[in-house]
Amino acid sequence: MPHDLSDDLSDESHYDRTRLRQWARGRARSAGMDRRDLLKLFAAGAAAGSMGLAAGAGPAFAATDTAAAAAAASGAPGALAAPGILKPLPPELFTLRGTNAETNFAALRGTGLLTPVDRFFVRNHTSTPRVDPGRWRLKVWGDGLAGGPVEFSYERLRALPVVERTLFLECAGNARSFYATQQGQAVTGTPWTLGAIGVARWRGARLSDVLRQAGVTPGAVDVMPRGLDDEVTANGVNLGRVRRPLPVAKALDDVLLAYEMNGQPLPADHGGPVRLVVPDWVGISSIKWVGDIEVSAEPLYSPWNTEMYRLFGPGHPAEGGPVVTRQTLKSAFELDLGATVRVHRPRVLTGRSWSAAAPVTRIDVSVDGGGHWRRARVHDTPSRGGWVRWSVPWTPRVTGATALLARATDATGRTQPETSAHNTQGYLFDAVVRHPVTVVP
Ligand code: MTE
Repeated sequence: MPHDLSDDLSDESHYDRTRLRQWARGRARSAGMDRRDLLKLFAAGAAAGSMGLAAGAGPAFAATDTAAAAAAASGAPGALAAPGILKPLPPELFTLRGTNAETNFAALRGTGLLTPVDRFFVRNHTSTPRVDPGRWRLKVWGDGLAGGPVEFSYERLRALPVVERTLFLECAGNARSFYATQQGQAVTGTPWTLGAIGVARWRGARLSDVLRQAGVTPGAVDVMPRGLDDEVTANGVNLGRVRRPLPVAKALDDVLLAYEMNGQPLPADHGGPVRLVVPDWVGISSIKWVGDIEVSAEPLYSPWNTEMYRLFGPGHPAEGGPVVTRQTLKSAFELDLGATVRVHRPRVLTGRSWSAAAPVTRIDVSVDGGGHWRRARVHDTPSRGGWVRWSVPWTPRVTGATALLARATDATGRTQPETSAHNTQGYLFDAVVRHPVTVVP
């Protein structure tokens, strides 16, 4: 039906404004939940600025970590457990945050461009399900198809033309904790530092090939992939299984149904046997353990594009500002926050920078809290959707506390700002991070 969406679906803000109008007029559908329940959540999200559901791991900022994570922080026995994650999580590689595991950036030093699976962050709303590829089916269905549902087995998916891309996957809330620690602003959600990102070589089929084989029609407007993991309950409301609509224009453009990561079958924790990989968009778009995809001739809403993953707070309308789609740009040192370094001892500072808008072309580094800047040496050919490694030599000359800063600029000319625009759920942090270190005798 709604052909008033016309040709503008690739314009994300237009897409979202149109959807909100349709929602207000009752013309958009709440998928998988009662419309009244979703409206209640939506209203609560707008009123409170957030329901504490942001990026999932629980209510208040300081209270997100589970007992296991607290044990990890204190080095107590049991530190290696995160509920629901199957792969080993040694404390030198990961910091546990509730049901999630953050990559320690220091553990990337010396690794290649790709993030090894053994240190790739995991973001689970609930827990990793074990899905047998032999029994896995992808059901594509909905009134945006010419006919009835179409099923794809693992073999059928693998028989489609193969695509391979090196892309970063980054949580919308990556670096969220710096809103509080650096800008003094309250945010809800998992207090990630900079490690809710990884870069992998993804291999799979094009979502567009699957949609075409399933008979997508010109009337289709939204595509809603849904995971096979457990239903999510938050504040006593069952939100159903993790799902988030994508405009059909994005779905037909560059989205992958990935079954391999860094040359291996996709590991269970990362969505195996099959997940979406949505280039440049926030991690929640890349639905893991995908089991079905609704193709709809009506706009769709789920909690993951209404009261979560939307910008709330000062400067945004009460009903929520834009839905979060494209990621932003950041830089990180491959060094622990609060590290201790020796005075007069030459060392090489290393790090990585990335941008969702364009390849990163330049990194400037300061070792004196922003007083002086030097251009870093870039070690990789900048590429769209990836990151670059960089380095600068440094011999600390004075003892005491200082801050290391790295500032990326991408090919569009965009540079990391000094402060990031606040939103109550702490998404899209893009400011230069002040990385504390102590220089000791
Ligand atoms: N898909 C499902 N089915 N369930 C989830 O919990 N988490 C999302 C996304 N896809 C999630 C999901 C979020 S918020 C992110 S950031 C990425 O998966 C994380 O992918 P990773 O765990 O492979 O790093």
